[in-house]
Amino acid sequence: MTDAGTTDVNAKFTPRVFSGIKPSGGLTLGIYLCAIRRFVDMQGGDFETIYCVVDLHAITVWQDPSELRNATREVAAGFIASGIDPEKSVLFNQSQVSQHAELGWLFNCVARVGWMNRMTQFKDKAGSNAEKVSLGLYAYPSLMAADILLYHATHVPVGEDQKQHVELTRDIAQKFNHDYKVDFFPETQPVIEGPATRVMNLRDGTKKMSKSGESDMERINMTDDADLIAKKFKKAKTDPEALPDTLDGLKDRPEARNLVDIYAALNDMTPEAVITEYAGAGWGRFKPALADLAVAKLAPISTEMGRLMTETAELDRILARGAERARDIAQPVLQQAYDIVGFVR
Ligand code: AQP
Repeated sequence: MTDAGTTDVNAKFTPRVFSGIKPSGGLTLGIYLCAIRRFVDMQGGDFETIYCVVDLHAITVWQDPSELRNATREVAAGFIASGIDPEKSVLFNQSQVSQHAELGWLFNCVARVGWMNRMTQFKDKAGSNAEKVSLGLYAYPSLMAADILLYHATHVPVGEDQKQHVELTRDIAQKFNHDYKVDFFPETQPVIEGPATRVMNLRDGTKKMSKSGESDMERINMTDDADLIAKKFKKAKTDPEALPDTLDGLKDRPEARNLVDIYAALNDMTPEAVITEYAGAGWGRFKPALADLAVAKLAPISTEMGRLMTETAELDRILARGAERARDIAQPVLQQAYDIVGFVR
């Protein structure tokens, strides 16, 4: 990771991390390994940490209102159960801080349509249905830039799939700074680290594991019980070959590589070390070991999530308090942006 202090362009900014998770369904193992665990690692270190349940992003596709409320609380519970301390980090849901939407509008007027047209996530999500999806889905990356830049965040931990959006955030910051001849927004760095920066679908190793993917069998949810986790790994697509003795041997075996990467990430080891330990092992040995490991890591978190979900008033209080703290940082930034743009106030 680039040290905030070594990046000249960001030297004047407080080292600050922002990241978010969409409450568009339950949390998956991919989100846990590539996002939430990184968020916990960065808490209490050299950075101020701000974590957000990005409900404005969730409604870019249809969400049933009561499911959205439940998923928002579940994501908050997942953060806390995984180790995010709402005293050490600012934890809130996006719609309680209206400055996100306001800065998002400014950025809709800075970002270019051509830039949005290049966003691969939009192409993937819209598919052949691009005329019928919401305008919000198209503008999503510009709101994401606002989420990050509203806090002058210098670093954003994300999965590999979000890299392009963080690059777009930098483009927006640069264009704003250039157009208005200011040095106002930082050039935010993506932080994409660890053995599994892209956790793949258990049924198709070329597709990302997603919370809203078609079949529940293609993902591990953080709330799955031990039997279901074992069943999903048992049925995960693999190939007839045993595990090779070098990582190179997994080059054209995306499903096998994915399971090795998941094992490595769960056990805080490198994929090479997993291969060394399991060289020559068949799936009948590796899959149960992987399931046991996943259960050992996830069970304490899902038990705590379950407990927190029985205390919704407390979760709502935590989110409201986090939103107050977020507004204290966001409002002066938005007001300065309005002054720069030339709004009378
Ligand atoms: N499978 C994954 N591998 C690596 N990183 C992942 N992330 C999510 N899934 C994977 C990372 O988790 C963070 C939060 O993601 P999000 O919920 O805001 O959005 P998403 O990436 O669109 O998640 P899903 O599961 O695919 O949701 P749906 O199906 O609703 O679109 C991000 O940092 C993301 O990189």
